[in-house]
Amino acid sequence: MSATPVDPTQTEAWKRLTSLADGFAPDLRGWFAADPGRAERLTFTAADLYVDLSKGLLDHDVLAALLQLADEVGLTERRDAMFRGEHVNVTEDRAVLHTALRLPADAALEVDGQDVVTDVHDVLRRVYDFADRVRSGVWTGVTGERIRTVVNIGIGGSDLGPVMAYEALAPYRALPDGQGEIECRFISNIDPTDAATTLARLDPATTLFIVSSKTFGTLETLTNARLCKAWLLAELGTGVDEKAAIAKHFAAVSNALDKVADFGIDPANAFGMWDWVGGRYSVDSAIGTSLAVAIGPERFAEFLAGFHALDEHFRTTEPARNVPVLMGLLNVWYTNFLGAQTHAVLPYSQLLHRFPAYLQQLTMESNGKGVRWDGSAVTADTGEVFWGEPGTNGQHAFYQLIHQGTRLIPADFIAFATPAYPLVDGETDVHELFLANFFAQTRALAFGKTADEVRAEGTAEAIVPARVFTGNRPTTSIMAPALTPAVLGQLVALYEHLTFTEGAVWGIDSFDQWGVELGKQLALQVSPAVAGDAEARAAQDPSTRALIDYYRTHRS
Ligand code: F6P
Repeated sequence: MSATPVDPTQTEAWKRLTSLADGFAPDLRGWFAADPGRAERLTFTAADLYVDLSKGLLDHDVLAALLQLADEVGLTERRDAMFRGEHVNVTEDRAVLHTALRLPADAALEVDGQDVVTDVHDVLRRVYDFADRVRSGVWTGVTGERIRTVVNIGIGGSDLGPVMAYEALAPYRALPDGQGEIECRFISNIDPTDAATTLARLDPATTLFIVSSKTFGTLETLTNARLCKAWLLAELGTGVDEKAAIAKHFAAVSNALDKVADFGIDPANAFGMWDWVGGRYSVDSAIGTSLAVAIGPERFAEFLAGFHALDEHFRTTEPARNVPVLMGLLNVWYTNFLGAQTHAVLPYSQLLHRFPAYLQQLTMESNGKGVRWDGSAVTADTGEVFWGEPGTNGQHAFYQLIHQGTRLIPADFIAFATPAYPLVDGETDVHELFLANFFAQTRALAFGKTADEVRAEGTAEAIVPARVFTGNRPTTSIMAPALTPAVLGQLVALYEHLTFTEGAVWGIDSFDQWGVELGKQLALQVSPAVAGDAEARAAQDPSTRALIDYYRTHRS
């Protein structure tokens, strides 16, 4: 792999795309009318995912130029280097091997002298054994009671993945013996409200904490872990042996197992990970232990198999049919040539209500970069602001801007054929009503409504402009048979790999996150001033000083 990234703006393909964008006049109505095969030609499958790009703003020439761009920047070489375990995370000098977390046990991969597959499956076996013991009630709290609640303490990738997947897979949580389910709670924020309100509802005797932190050095997580430890010991009362209580009520996930031991957690309850797993790529590592407890090892294995199926699609499918490649390239087209700044993700599935938040870290921490992997400045805009809410709620909130606003907002619509909860309202299958909204919205966005169509409805002339929909608002429709653990794994891997594709085009290291460091450092520097230290106060800028003074005056 080349040490110097190819400058995408100097490629022939970029020049071609620039000229295609110049005066680009999207015409989805016309394109569909002129080409009856458009929907079929631009619909692709990847494992269980059915992905329709035909309502996107692309024609044959744009697609050909985007594929040429992928070729000229060496996308497939970089992809293969990642899968091989080369140190594509240059600024941290690390391999990037989240794909190894979901390799089957009989696969072989040795990286930097490490038998990665054996290591991954050794940890998985321990996680599964732990999950089984908690789920079956063999594992009890220090007073002998069965564990009913697992609290994951973590932030960023050590929170967003587990909470997103726990919510998404709610229908898969039942314990086999009719014992209800293990409830998971998540404490992430250093706002003491998070710990206080979560703990207030818990019974210490039946609660197990999992401290999830790759580095075991994150301020929020360690503070919350100490708060939870103090709460547990105080609530259990004086008769309980502290060491035994921690051993029975605390587990940890980290690659800093020495720090886990220093915290007082029994090494037998600690699950390792590796520096080649980025936080935002770690829900499929032991960071997913709370999820494994909630849904059980069998379902967790299906989740991993789903990731792997998509990995194989990404690794082996030619770019012209490779869904994450195509979606990533399309995002480059929208961002760098058509001026889009944000990207909406709109799951027509209430179970995916945390999916957009999950994708925000995945995509924005990965691709929000201003320098390339060789340290030179980027040559084109990078990243998109990902955001979204489940449909149909979003329809009644922000879709107005997507339909009629002045900004281009590409949107991914996600839906499932079979509902998790099939309800009927009289004669009406409510899921069908729900999906009708999905189909209607993507249609309205693509094809709009002309002034003549509005007039034909008898609308007064003065109101006509306000009721016109321009159409040509791009969407990608993603469907799957049902939101199973495997399909969820596929969806996550789809977005991981499209994020990779965009990063490869821009020549950036999508696997570091230096942009989060300065704020962390300054928080440490500011906190003595907040606590009243005069010297630290004097070292602040006038605005920050005044804000701290405001706080100190008004704190009650
Ligand atoms: O501050 C950002 C970050 O490093 C994320 O990349 C990561 O997911 C999160 O913090 C939590 O890190 P850790 O798992 O080491 O506590």
